[in-house]
Amino acid sequence: MMDTNKSQHGEWSSRFAFIMAATGSAVGLGNIWKFPYITGENGGGAFVLVYLLCVLLVGIPIMMAETMLGRRGRKNPIDTMINLNTEAAGDANWRYLGSAGIIAGFLILSYYSVIAGWAGAYVIKAFTGSFFSADATATKALFDNFIASPMQLIFWHTVFMVATMLIVMRGISHGLEKSVRFMMPCLFGLMILLLAYAMTTKGYFQGLHFLFYPDFSKLTGKSVLVALGQAFFSLGLGMGAVMIYGAYLPKEVSIAKTTVIVAAADTLVALLAGLVIFPLVFSYGLNPSAGPGLIFETLPIAFGNMPGGWLFGVLFFIMLVFAALSSSIALIEPAVTWLIECKGLSREQACVRAGLAAWGLGLATVFSFNSWSGFTIFGNTLFELIDYLTANFMLPLGGLAIAVFAGWVMKPAHSQEELALPEPLHYQIWQWLIRYIAPAAVFLVFLHAIGVL
Ligand code: PFF
Repeated sequence: MMDTNKSQHGEWSSRFAFIMAATGSAVGLGNIWKFPYITGENGGGAFVLVYLLCVLLVGIPIMMAETMLGRRGRKNPIDTMINLNTEAAGDANWRYLGSAGIIAGFLILSYYSVIAGWAGAYVIKAFTGSFFSADATATKALFDNFIASPMQLIFWHTVFMVATMLIVMRGISHGLEKSVRFMMPCLFGLMILLLAYAMTTKGYFQGLHFLFYPDFSKLTGKSVLVALGQAFFSLGLGMGAVMIYGAYLPKEVSIAKTTVIVAAADTLVALLAGLVIFPLVFSYGLNPSAGPGLIFETLPIAFGNMPGGWLFGVLFFIMLVFAALSSSIALIEPAVTWLIECKGLSREQACVRAGLAAWGLGLATVFSFNSWSGFTIFGNTLFELIDYLTANFMLPLGGLAIAVFAGWVMKPAHSQEELALPEPLHYQIWQWLIRYIAPAAVFLVFLHAIGVL
C-alpha cells in the first residue's frame, strides 16, 4: 500500500504492490471482453500473432519508458512532462503529451463504464438463473433484450461510475493492493475452470485452430492497426496511467522486471479468454464476429450447462466487475490528479466533476446500442467512434510520443540511470527498440491503415 505520509505522492510499499496495481490496471475488460471480440472480427490467428508481436516489440519497451518517465517526473502527466522537459532542455510543447493522455483516459472511461455495467447486470442474471440450460438462441435473445433497454444500461453504468468514483475519492491505494491480490488469482482460477469446460466441447480444436493458425489472407491494414491499438489498450499504455503509477515506484525497483511480469500476466489472461470463448463459439454455432456482445452470448451457455455453473457464473461476473474497477480507477486517476494539482480542487471535488463528465459522455455509448444505433458517422456508431479513435489513434500516438521523448529527448545518462539494467547490452536493446522499432512500427501501421502504404 502507498504510504501517503512519505511525500505528497507517497510510494508503493514494495515492488509487489506496484505489480498488483499495474496488473490491476492492465487486466480488465480489454482482455476478457475486447480481445476475444476483436480477434473474432479480425479473422483469428494472424491477428493474434501480430498482437503478440506488438506487445513484445512495441508494448513492453514503451511500458518501460512510460514507467520510467513517471518515476523521474513524480507528478501528474502534464507536470511530469514539464519537469522532465526542463531537465532535458526539450521543447515546451511536450507538455501536451500529458494532456492528450488525460483526455484519452477520460474518453475511454466513458464507454468502459457502460460495458462494465453490462458485467454488473450479468451478475444478477447469473444469480437469478437466467442462463439455466441456455442455448445460443436463448443467450443471444437475453443479450439483445438487455441492450435494447437504455434505462437498464444507464442504471448499471451509473452504479459502476459511482463505485469507481468512491474508490478514487478515498485515494487509489486504499484497498487496491488487497483487492487485486485476491481478485487476480480468483479470476485466473475461474478462467482455468472455464477452459476445462471448453476442452470438453466438440468445437475445442476448431477454436484452437481459429485462435492460433495464422491465415494471413485475413489480415488487412486496418486489422494490424487494431492489433497495435489493442496492445496499448490492454497494457494500459500511452495515456499517463502507467506514468502515474510509475510516479509512486520506489527507486530501487527494477522497471524492466516488473514490466515484463505485468505484460506477461496481461497477455496470458487475454489468451485464456480466447481459449475459452472460441471453442464455445464453434461448438454452439455462434458467429465469431458477433461484436461487442460476444462474451455475453457465449459464456452464459457454458455457465448454463456446466456442473456448478450457477455459482461459477455469479463469481465470474463479479470478478469481471472487479477487474474492470481496478482498470477504471487507472483510467480516471490522471484526470483527477491533474484537477487536484493544477486546478486546486479537493480530491472529492475532482472526482465528482471528472465522474459526472465521464458519466454524461457515457450516455452516447448507452444510446449507440439502442435509440441511436442508426446514427453513424463514417459508418460507425458513437461508441465505435470513441473506441476507434482512442484505442487506435490516441493511445498509439501517445505511445509514439513517449517513445520519442524517452529515446531521443531525454538524456541517455538519465534513462540509463532510471532503468538500471544489469547489462549494457540490455540497455542497448531497449534503446534500439524505443528509438527505432517502436516509432517505426506505429508510423508504418498508421500509413498502412490510412492507405498510403
Ligand atoms: N488495460 C485495461 C483493459 O485491458 O481493460 C484498460 C485500460 C486501463 C486502458 C487503464 C488504459 C488505462 F490507462
